[in-house]
Amino acid sequence: MSVFVKQKELKAHLKPFWLEKESIGFIPTMGALHQGHLSLMKESLKNNTVTVVSIFVNPTQFNNPEDLKKYPRTLESDMQKINSLDKNIIVYAPSVEDIYEGNTVSKHFDYDGLEFQMEGKHRPGHFDGVGTIVKKLFEIVGPTHAYFGEKDFQQLQIVKKMVEKHHLPVKIVGCKIHREANGLAMSSRNERLSAEERDNASFIFKTLTEAKKRFATKSAAAVTDWVTKTFQKQTMFELEYFEIADEETLLPCLRKSKTKTYRAFIAVFVNNVRLIDTITLK
Ligand code: PAJ
Repeated sequence: MSVFVKQKELKAHLKPFWLEKESIGFIPTMGALHQGHLSLMKESLKNNTVTVVSIFVNPTQFNNPEDLKKYPRTLESDMQKINSLDKNIIVYAPSVEDIYEGNTVSKHFDYDGLEFQMEGKHRPGHFDGVGTIVKKLFEIVGPTHAYFGEKDFQQLQIVKKMVEKHHLPVKIVGCKIHREANGLAMSSRNERLSAEERDNASFIFKTLTEAKKRFATKSAAAVTDWVTKTFQKQTMFELEYFEIADEETLLPCLRKSKTKTYRAFIAVFVNNVRLIDTITLK
């Protein structure tokens, strides 16, 4: 496994692949790797000559300094996981200095309104931070394909929009959500939960699954009302939002249209740990 901490050295290593126009698959991550991340890597390994993984906890996308401080950093075990998956994966694990070169101010991005919904409302500046780092990483790695999880569905749509607007020569591939046996969506943040909390947090996906069933016969407002009341009865969770939105525009579903595909989105606090999940309502 080749590991680079400096973009200059990574670029020198990748240059022959760029020149030969080889397919380069790229998976940007913030580390604390789990099976969800590894499933993205497997997808890339199947379809590209080389696979590059970045591990970088990006400060500009955290609106809450406490969340940034507490974000799990497990570089040693991350490397082991990557190495046991495939020894040919190239890892880029830069410092803030190497990647931002002294300027950690986010660029402003216009994502045609996708950025004003859900996560955008609750995490001001978050998607400017994501756009800034993902664009920088694309420029450094020069991938032909980049893999993103549907777990962060809004992020996936936003990255697709950025690529389209900036005419970046990379194909964005969306990958299914990887879940624990109990249904809980895998997340680096789950590491901050106790075993009991992880067990109980399966309630989030159970509620999403039930919401999907109800949406077949009920309005978005009625389903939202049911989810809100269901969470009010639980002392362990604090519901931040539940929304049913159009998958394309991410605008809330006010009246169902047969030509649109809808998706439910949820953000919940479990003992101060913020978890998000989503399910298609197709
Ligand atoms: P991170 O949360 O580490 O996630 C890296 C990638 O893994 C994202 O595309 C995310 O959607 C995907 N992922 C996370 N959990 C998953 C799961 N359970 N199943 C499938 N895919 C999953 O998302 C980020 O990092 C950052 O915002 C980043 C894009 C790296 C920019 O800093």
